[in-house]
Amino acid sequence: MNQIVICVGSVYGAALETARAVRTALQAEGFSVELHEAPTLASVTETEGAVLICTSTTGTGDLPENIAPLYQGLTNEYPNIVGRPFGVITLGDSSYFESFGGAGDLIFEAFTELAAKPLSPLLKIDAQETADPEEVAVPWSREWARQLTNQ
Ligand SMILES: Cc1cc2nc3c(=O)[nH]c(=O)nc-3n(C[C@H](O)[C@H](O)[C@H](O)COP(=O)(O)O)c2cc1C
Repeated sequence: MNQIVICVGSVYGAALETARAVRTALQAEGFSVELHEAPTLASVTETEGAVLICTSTTGTGDLPENIAPLYQGLTNEYPNIVGRPFGVITLGDSSYFESFGGAGDLIFEAFTELAAKPLSPLLKIDAQETADPEEVAVPWSREWARQLTNQ
C-alpha cells in the first residue's frame, strides 16, 4: 500500500505545520500523500490507502472545528472502514491534565469502534516537553508508514 491521506485538525496552525512536515517526509519515502486541511467523511470514504490524523486539542479535550465534520461523519454515519489502516498524532499540552491530547483519544476511538486498523498506538506530543512537534512527529510517522509497505 502506497497511498496516505493526512487529515488535519488545527486551530492556530501548529498541527497543520506538523502535518505538512510529515507529508514532505513521507513523500520522500516514496508514498503518495494527500493532505486534507478541512477533512470530511469523504476524506476517508472517497479515498484509498491509509489515513493519518494529525490534530491538536482545543477547549477541554475537544477536536478543532475544522476536523469536526470528519468526526461527526464517523460517529453518526458509521461508514464501513473495517480493516482500514490508520494512525493518530495529537498535539496537546499536559498542563491541561485529564484533557491532555483528548482530541486524539476521541478520533482514535472513533476509528477503532468502526474496526479500522491502528498501525501504531496513538501518539501524543506534549507542548511542555517538545518545542517543535515535527521533531517527534516525523520519525514516528516514518515508522508508522513503514508498516504499510507490508500490506
Ligand atoms: C484555548 C486552548 C485550549 C486548549 N485545550 C487543550 C486541551 O484540552 N488539552 C490539550 O492537551 N491541549 C490543549 N491545548 C493546547 C493545544 O492543543 C496546543 O497548544 C497545540 O499545539 C495547538 O495546536 P494548533 O496550533 O494546531 O491548534 C489548548 C490550547 C488552547 C489555546
